Amino acid sequence: MAGRRLIVFDDSAALARAAADSFVESFHAALGEKGFFIAVLSGGGTPIELYKLIASPEYSGKIDWASTHLLWGDERCVSPEDGLSNFKSAFETLISRVDIPQQNVHRIRGELPPHEAASEYGEEIRALLGLGPDGLPGFDLVLLGLGADGHTLSVFPDTGASASPKGLVMANYVPKLRSWRVTMTLEAISRAKKTLFLVAGKEKADALKGMLKGDYPAGAVQGEEVLVLADKEAAGFI
Ligand code: 6PG
Repeated sequence: MAGRRLIVFDDSAALARAAADSFVESFHAALGEKGFFIAVLSGGGTPIELYKLIASPEYSGKIDWASTHLLWGDERCVSPEDGLSNFKSAFETLISRVDIPQQNVHRIRGELPPHEAASEYGEEIRALLGLGPDGLPGFDLVLLGLGADGHTLSVFPDTGASASPKGLVMANYVPKLRSWRVTMTLEAISRAKKTLFLVAGKEKADALKGMLKGDYPAGAVQGEEVLVLADKEAAGFI
């Protein structure tokens, strides 16, 4: 496994631009390799600036959206109309602004019972990538955020998902949030060709320092190429 590389940016705008350039680069590599591109989107607030930039005229024309499939690394157990929905956030800032075929948008159905949503999504990933029962996906690009507690996806410390379970997608109860989440497992993203962490804000500094040492669920993320894009506020300790 290649190591992880930290790249520090002056601000979140520069970070979003670098991530957008990397998204386009991954797209072209995937198109050349197999004729389509599979990107796993992150939830939370940090990637919103990136989504808006990718959807802008400057970037959206660089992507063939008919050859692009969008998945989510995790979802809250809410309806897609709920303000907490990771799908809703991405729909409003990216999907509704580009000409991507509806069948290429693979939403985690958070409105279902958590275990049912997890099982259904795992099967959807297997069908999309033609995986057997034990196969692992090699996503072209996985976007990840970092929580102040070191979680990523919805793999929170000291929860079922942080025990490195097998399988692609699971329902994970998060006691501190008193809520269920549906999340890809760390194993599911471990074969990704490129994994981009997007980390911004001084409240992430401790978690960033720890994950770079391999601590927390975020520190356990593996992949062919793991890049950590951070702004100066988060990486001030460097
Ligand atoms: C989620 C995300 C989660 C997020 C981190 C950081 O569903 O909330 O997948 O892992 O990336 O909590 O969130 P912010 O970007 O909002 O700080």
